[in-house]
Amino acid sequence: MQMGEHAVTPVADTSTPAAQRIGVPREIFPGEKRVATVPEAVVKLVKLGFSVVVESGAGDLAQLSDEDYRAAGASIVPTAAALWSGSDIVFKVRAPTSDEVALMHAGQTLIGFLWPAQNPELMQQLAARQVTALSIDALPRTLSRAQKMDALTSMAGVSGYRAVVEAANAFGRFFNGQITAAGKVPPAKVFIAGAGVAGLAAIGAAASLGAIVRANDTRAEVADQVVSLGGEFVKVDYEEEGSGGGGYAKVMSEGFQAAQREMYAKQAREVDIIITTALIPGKPAPKLITAEMVQSMKPGSVIVDMAAEQGGNCELTVPGEAVVRHGVTIVGYTDLASRMARQSSTLYATNLFRLTEELCKTKDGVINVNMDDDAIRGLTVIKNGAITWPAPPLVAAPKPAAKPAAMPAAKKGHGHGQASGPMPAGKLAIVAGVTAVLFALVGAYAPAAFLSHFTVFVLACFVGYMVVWNVKPALHTPLMSVTNAISSIIAIGALVQISPMADAAGRPNTLIGILAAVALVLTAINMFGGFAVTQRMLAMFRK
Ligand code: NAI
Repeated sequence: MQMGEHAVTPVADTSTPAAQRIGVPREIFPGEKRVATVPEAVVKLVKLGFSVVVESGAGDLAQLSDEDYRAAGASIVPTAAALWSGSDIVFKVRAPTSDEVALMHAGQTLIGFLWPAQNPELMQQLAARQVTALSIDALPRTLSRAQKMDALTSMAGVSGYRAVVEAANAFGRFFNGQITAAGKVPPAKVFIAGAGVAGLAAIGAAASLGAIVRANDTRAEVADQVVSLGGEFVKVDYEEEGSGGGGYAKVMSEGFQAAQREMYAKQAREVDIIITTALIPGKPAPKLITAEMVQSMKPGSVIVDMAAEQGGNCELTVPGEAVVRHGVTIVGYTDLASRMARQSSTLYATNLFRLTEELCKTKDGVINVNMDDDAIRGLTVIKNGAITWPAPPLVAAPKPAAKPAAMPAAKKGHGHGQASGPMPAGKLAIVAGVTAVLFALVGAYAPAAFLSHFTVFVLACFVGYMVVWNVKPALHTPLMSVTNAISSIIAIGALVQISPMADAAGRPNTLIGILAAVALVLTAINMFGGFAVTQRMLAMFRK
C-alpha cells in the first residue's frame, strides 16, 4: 500500500493496516463540470475509516467550494501532482489523460468511467503503471445488489431529464395544452426512440410537463414501463424479439428495420419533439432518423440526439453542438449530465461511496478488491498491473421453477395477471361442504327472514372477495378508501334503523339523539373523505 505524503505515522503494531487516503482530483476534460465526490459523501467515507483529500477547485463548477469539503472533513491540496502522489485510491469521473496516468504509482487504485473497450491504449498505460483500475461502467448491472453502485443508470437518468429541458429550451411553445382567453394551445407531442434508462427518464419528464408522449423500443418488455410513466408505447408492425440479453437490445433484422423506418417516418411528420436514446453497447448508434424524416418535421420542431457521442441516431446530428437543419433544431450535446453538475456529482458520489462500502466490508479504511465477488470482479479491469478485462460472463441465476399449468389459464381469464388461479378441486370441495353444513344449520334453527339475509351476505362476501382479488396491487389503496366510504354508508343505514330519538319507553331522549348526530358527522367525514382520497389516488394513475 502506498502511504502518501500525509499518511498516518506508522505505529508499532504493524498487523493493523493504516487507513487509506482517497484522492479526488479536479476533472480536466474540457467542459466537464462534475466532480467525483461531494461533501455529503466525504462525511460517510471518513466514517468508513478513510481520509479524503480533494484538489483545490475540484468542485467549483458543481457549486462546491473547498470550504464545503474542508467542513465535511476532507483536506485540500493545491495541485494535481500532490493529489495523485498522495492518494492510495483516486476517484475520477472521466477516464484519466496520459498526463494524469503519468502521475500514478504502483499499488494505487483508480475508480472512474474508463470505458475499457473504447480505450485499449489507456488500459495498456495503466497496466504499465502497476495500478488496479475499477471501471464503473463495467459493473454487471443485472445484479440487483449492484444497483446502488450503478453510475451509468444514475447519469443516464439525469441526462434523460436534461434532454427534455434542452428540448423545451429550443422549442418555442408550451408542452402542456392550454385554453386561455388569448386562445387554445394544443399539447406538444414528444416521441422518444429507445426506452432504456435515459429514455424512461425523458418520458417521465416530458409527461410531467404535460406533453403527449409516445415511445418505441426494440425490447417489447419495456412497453409497461413506458405506460407507467405516462407514455404510449408505439409498436413496430413486425414480429421479432428484440432482447439481446442482460437488459440490452440486439441488432434487428433488415425486415424489422424497414418496418421501423416506416413507423418513425410517420411519427416524424406528426410530432414536435423527438428524443433519441437508442443504443446497443459496443455498437455504433443505429441511424433511426433520416435526413428526409427531419425534412418532413414541422418547422420549429426539435430533435435531441442523446446518442451523439456514439455517432448519433439522427443522420444530421453534429456531436457536441445544437444545429438547425430544415427548420428543425438538432441538439447533439454529449455532456447532458455535466450540465446538471451538482445533481449528477451527488448521485455519482453516492454510487462511489456504495462501491467503497462493498470494497471495505471491514470498515477500517482499507479496501479489498475481492475477485470472488461478482460485482467487484465485473468492474475490475486491471488488478495490480494485470489486465483482467473483460470479466467472464455471469453465471445465470437458476430460473424459478415452472408455475403449475393452471396459472396461465387464470391469467387469460381475468386479464389482470394478478389472479392466484382457480382454487384446487380438493380445497373447493371442502369450502362447498362447510358452506352447505352452515346453511343447513342456519335453515334448521334461524327464522326464515334471517336465512334470506344470510344468503345475500354470503354471496356478497364471495363476490367482494373475487373482485378484490383481481384488482392490481397498485390500486389497493384507492380500493380501500372507497371501501371505507361504502362501509360508512352502511353505518348511516344502521343509524336510521335504530331510531335514536326515542328511549325504551318511547320518550324522546336527547343524549341518544346527540350521540347519533355525532356518529352521523363522524361517519360522513369518513364517507366523503374516503371518496375524496379515492379520487386523488385514482388521479395519480390518469394522465
Ligand atoms: P440503455 O442501454 O439503457 O438504453 C438504450 C435503449 O435503446 C435500450 O432500451 C434499447 O433496447 C434501445 N434500442 C437499441 N436499439 C434500438 C433500435 N434500433 N430502436 C429502438 N430502440 C433501440 O442506455 P441509456 O443508459 O438509456 O443511454 C441511452 C443513450 O444515451 C446512450 O447512447 C448513451 O450513451 C446516451 N447518453 C448520452 C448522454 C449525453 O450527455 N448525451 C449522457 C448519458 C447517456
